[in-house]
Amino acid sequence: MPRQLLVTAALPYANGSIHLGHMLEFVQTDIWVRFQRAQGHEVVFAWADDAHGTPIMLNAEKKGMTPEQLIALYHEEHQQDFRDFHLSYDHFSSTHSADNQALVEVFWQRLNEGGHVVSKTIEQLYDTERNMFLPDRFIRGTCPKCGATDQYGDSCERCGATYEPTELIDPVSAVSGSTPVPKKTEHHFVTLAPFTNDLQQWVRSGALQDEVANKLDEWFEQGLRDWDVTRDAPYFGFQIPGTDNQYFYVWMDAPVGYLSSFRQYCERHGLNFDAWVNPDSSAEMHHFIGKDIIYFHCLFWPAMLKGAGFKMPTAVHAHGFLTVNGTKMSKSRGTFITARSWLDHLQADDFRYYLAAKLGSGLADIDLNFDDFTQRVNADLVGKLVNIASRASGFIHKFGDGRLSDTLPDAALYQTFIERTPAIANDFEQRNYNSAIRQIMALADRANQYVDEHKPWQMAREDGREADVLAVCTQAINLFRVLITWLAPVIPNIAGRASELLQTDLEHWGGLEQPLLNHAINTFKPLSQRVDPKQIEALLAASRESLEAAEPGPENQQDETPVDTLNLEDEITIDDFSKVDLRVARIVEARLVDGADRLLQLTLGLNDDNPDLKRQVFAGIRGAYEPDQLVGRLTVLVANLKPRKMRFGLSEGMVLAASGDGDGPFLLSPDSGATPGMRVK
Ligand code: 2FM
Ligand code: ZN
Repeated sequence: MPRQLLVTAALPYANGSIHLGHMLEFVQTDIWVRFQRAQGHEVVFAWADDAHGTPIMLNAEKKGMTPEQLIALYHEEHQQDFRDFHLSYDHFSSTHSADNQALVEVFWQRLNEGGHVVSKTIEQLYDTERNMFLPDRFIRGTCPKCGATDQYGDSCERCGATYEPTELIDPVSAVSGSTPVPKKTEHHFVTLAPFTNDLQQWVRSGALQDEVANKLDEWFEQGLRDWDVTRDAPYFGFQIPGTDNQYFYVWMDAPVGYLSSFRQYCERHGLNFDAWVNPDSSAEMHHFIGKDIIYFHCLFWPAMLKGAGFKMPTAVHAHGFLTVNGTKMSKSRGTFITARSWLDHLQADDFRYYLAAKLGSGLADIDLNFDDFTQRVNADLVGKLVNIASRASGFIHKFGDGRLSDTLPDAALYQTFIERTPAIANDFEQRNYNSAIRQIMALADRANQYVDEHKPWQMAREDGREADVLAVCTQAINLFRVLITWLAPVIPNIAGRASELLQTDLEHWGGLEQPLLNHAINTFKPLSQRVDPKQIEALLAASRESLEAAEPGPENQQDETPVDTLNLEDEITIDDFSKVDLRVARIVEARLVDGADRLLQLTLGLNDDNPDLKRQVFAGIRGAYEPDQLVGRLTVLVANLKPRKMRFGLSEGMVLAASGDGDGPFLLSPDSGATPGMRVK
């Protein structure tokens, strides 16, 4: 049964260029969208620019433009970048549209009618020079907890404390440099606590990754606070009906932009919007987002949808951040890379491929390591994949006049490939792209091995073997066709060229069972190029230069999103870290655990001379180790972890192990010389 899927990626601020961090998400979304279309489902990928808020207002002012002019510029630039990264979205709108305003007002009216809005007088810091209330991120001052200077109005980067801006010592407005003063104002709030049950039920419907659901449980435990959706003038946004000079907070109208964009699409293409978004609809709604905006998408947005009588999201898929060469993107290192500078030096499909090879379904950050990137693209795409087609297609022209033979010499091998389709499809569906790529590349190895075993180049020199050469190359071309069809959602541009070569559509997985036989193909033209390290040097140099000019300042900030609510991986201080008591321990006994395939029961000695000093730990390392291998070796124990009662017994700590990209776990061990009981710090 074809499914109906509305898919969105987070709306980029219309206030700056798209960079590779954005692209990670957009590519992740696009691969999923293309994959779903390839299964024959009806997909609409609709999204927009996020056009409102204080930073956009200030940035426009600084550039001597109206905010409308500024967002119009970025609207064009963004779409050019999207097209050149081969994003196959159906509609890209702006949250600053009459359609979005109309829909925001529908939400507002229904939330009011449902009794979900309250008014309260609050106190905020006010810039008397600029006559404006200051968002938290536009105030700097001294941390009230640790005394660090030049901290944001909502949190301290040094000690991690979060606080109210009015608590900041010696506050300074980042807009004018003046000292802001507290001022009272009446704001509208959406009450979230009454939605707690609906939200909990929604979380249990399987809409979220486990890590995200756990985070929500913590928030539920703390109790959901009312959400302030008002911003006072001057503000670039939609005026709140019935007020003179108050506006909806950008985070109120931004997610509504998902639906207003989709509604525009529906109107233009004759789809029934209501049928897709009513609470009983079987159509699905999937949001792809970064892990920093979970709070907005997993609490505010579903509550708004519920309160306004719309369907809650089928799923919110969160991902981690992009790091470059192991660290946060940095302007001075030249690793803050815009989408455009990437395109000036390298291929979009290579970025897409590399990301896919690393992306799993979790929230782990993804590192773009340039050495690894070069090696992988050159080895996999050029060396393994394209190589099959380039080797085989020449012989098809030489001996078959460009026509494939009419049988497959090794139908069983072809069948082996086809049988892997469901497992690969499942990986794409679950966003385990890294696992899909591993499977596909293992089969690409198999295809190359087939060609190597049959050596068509050798046969080609022997008389009367033309038909054999043709048969082997027909087999190779057919294996290539299967591989490139699976990969088409990831590398659409290469797949497009392969489609010209093979003279066939590669977009639907349904037709793969039928091999291409007695079928004319084109002459080979390069499908992809090797990456030369010089291109990367040039990219980094250009990124350094182009960004040296960008000055820091509040107007260059893209975002006024508060930080206190959203960090999944909160920074910790050295004091926090030193609370963890890590000890060297010897594994004195290791046993299988009945009824738990992944666990081993370890007895850990903390003093070789005193067998009584020991701990029992249940560790999820069975997949990588046999119990006997472990006895006697040293490892690292988290010794002061609160004991946990498990089904099998008490676990009194935890051992440290590394894992990543589906590999591992690898137990950590100290260098020789360390002895049980030693503190690790
Ligand atoms: O964090 C951001 O970049 C926001 N512009 C995302 C908005 S997503 C949605 F809610 F509109
Ligand atoms: Zn501090």
